[in-house]
Amino acid sequence: MPLIAIKDITVAYGAPLRPVLGAVGAGINLDIHQGDFICLLGQTGCGKSTMLRLVLGSERPATGRVLIDGVEHQRPDRTRGYVPQKYSLFPDRTVLDNITFGPLVSEFNLATRWTPGYFQRRREVREQAMGYIRRIGLRESDAGKYPDQLSGGMQQRVAIAQALIMQPRILLMDEAFSALDPGTRREMQQLIKQLWADTGITVLFVTHNMQEAAFLASRVVVLAKKDPDSGSQVALDVAPPARLGDSTAMEFHARLEATCSGMRDAEEMAA
Ligand SMILES: Nc1ncnc2c1ncn2[C@@H]1O[C@H](COP(=O)(O)OP(=O)(O)O)[C@@H](O)[C@H]1O
Ligand SMILES: [Mg+2]
Repeated sequence: MPLIAIKDITVAYGAPLRPVLGAVGAGINLDIHQGDFICLLGQTGCGKSTMLRLVLGSERPATGRVLIDGVEHQRPDRTRGYVPQKYSLFPDRTVLDNITFGPLVSEFNLATRWTPGYFQRRREVREQAMGYIRRIGLRESDAGKYPDQLSGGMQQRVAIAQALIMQPRILLMDEAFSALDPGTRREMQQLIKQLWADTGITVLFVTHNMQEAAFLASRVVVLAKKDPDSGSQVALDVAPPARLGDSTAMEFHARLEATCSGMRDAEEMAA
């Protein structure tokens, strides 16, 4: 059974309804397996973020279903971690408190907070958080800093640690590196690829950068519209070439580029 099964989904917004994903009688189907690193590519507005929100469970499709391990989830929960494009840190909390916030808030309520059990657990979670701080490439001395004392890249590292400490089976990242300068972005790509290789976590990573997708993904999925009035479909679902830079890789990039810029162009190229 796939870890994530996207079954015949359509999404449409507005009045009159404008299809964004899929179309009546032609919903989107996609199976994502444990350990996949999926990069979701496509032009701005093609529905990448919408697709991510469907898997997160913060939004429901108009028709069709999204199953995680065979079960439909109505809202976000600990099985899925989410990292948005722009750092989502609490500005008035330290790095350590930002990372420990999720576990403590999900495990304790107003009645159980400040009990001996809470302090015991808080010690454990803080220790775990220090482990993640090292793992994401921050120094222990950064634990006490506030977000505005960190660079954009460091803030994104903290956002990743915030997601990872919940030990999600699925990590959802929406253009999470787009706001970073090229050098930092490269470092973050290497970090997330290493984390993926070390943990076997399943990643669904939205980007509109083809190089980023080819470097990170075990599967590149392109969303594109057949015509301007219809919702997007899966236009391409392929493994990137093992080596970057050779002739196979160049063909792959040409194909990606053609698909991203519209399915009709791709069909013309294939003919
Ligand atoms: N909540 C919403 N209400 C109305 N329109 C929306 C909503 N969310 C997204 N859209 C529209 O749906 C389309 C796809 O959006 P989105 O998933 O954000 O695309 P992408 O992430 O690929 O750029 C866009 O045209 C956007 O304006
Ligand atoms: Mg988006």
